[in-house]
Amino acid sequence: MTVDDDDVQVWFAQTADINDAARFARYESLLDRTEKATCDRLAGDAHRRLYVLSHALVRTTLGDCLGVEPSALRFGRTRHGRPYLLDTASSAPIMFNLAHSDGVAVLAVTRSRAIGIDVESSRRLPCVDDLLPVALSGDERRDLAQYASEERTRRFIRYWVLKEAYLKAEGVGFSTPPADVSFLLGGTGPYHIVLARPAPGALPRTWSFRMFEIANDYCVAVCAEAGAKGFGRLEVRRCVPLEGNAVVATELRGY
Ligand SMILES: CC(C)(COP(=O)(O)OP(=O)(O)OC[C@H]1O[C@@H](n2cnc3c(N)ncnc32)[C@H](O)[C@@H]1OP(=O)(O)O)[C@@H](O)C(=O)NCCC(=O)NCCS
Repeated sequence: MTVDDDDVQVWFAQTADINDAARFARYESLLDRTEKATCDRLAGDAHRRLYVLSHALVRTTLGDCLGVEPSALRFGRTRHGRPYLLDTASSAPIMFNLAHSDGVAVLAVTRSRAIGIDVESSRRLPCVDDLLPVALSGDERRDLAQYASEERTRRFIRYWVLKEAYLKAEGVGFSTPPADVSFLLGGTGPYHIVLARPAPGALPRTWSFRMFEIANDYCVAVCAEAGAKGFGRLEVRRCVPLEGNAVVATELRGY
């Protein structure tokens, strides 16, 4: 598998697609000691299955890109917890970011550009009003206040995935409070996305955003450093690790 310099690939996998215990055992065998220990500490079978699937997705996809056995890949973590590949000396290194939520794992892969991804299920709707003060900026809260319940919740989830994808692309995650950054969503879908207030202290960079839905009820946001030529093609692929993949969408315009 190749990843061209301007491309962003998004791979997603669902625990619901995999009912085979032997396959999960195979996925588990790809993980290193740290991953296995992290997985063992998780409460509940559903969380452990999603963790194993997510990390198998990372290892099989990146292993394929690099021509390396999935189990041979080694990862480091930044002080904010962002994983990165060790042992790669390429001039156009593979960059990736993972998110998992409610049975779904999504992985964004690109070259040489900062990247962040987030996924949230609309089925597990948060109580929006309780979260507003910590999650959204004043401008975002004022925007939400203009809309009735359904669009209000849709907007909340979209602001949320954008913020998380952006803060993950910056590599800081929620060490920067999400209310300290601010987006502006124009329209009611497709949305026009503007990063109105970047993270305090962030380096000046041009970011590009795409949002789309997968597996019926999941909203995904991808944030990629735009670079000189902008953010190229985005391809979204549904897959079962070690089994194959289906291209769900290419040339996604997103919004
Ligand atoms: C990044 C963060 C927002 C993810 O939150 P989440 O909603 O629980 O999880 P998501 O499903 O969106 O993403 C999880 C994945 O993001 C990646 N990730 C973790 N920290 C990251 C960071 N700082 N930047 C980018 N990606 C990160 C990891 O791959 C993680 O999955 P894994 O732990 O299974 O490998 C949250 O973990 C965070 O705020 N971390 C930073 C806080 C910090 O500074 N911690 C310091 C101690 S490590």
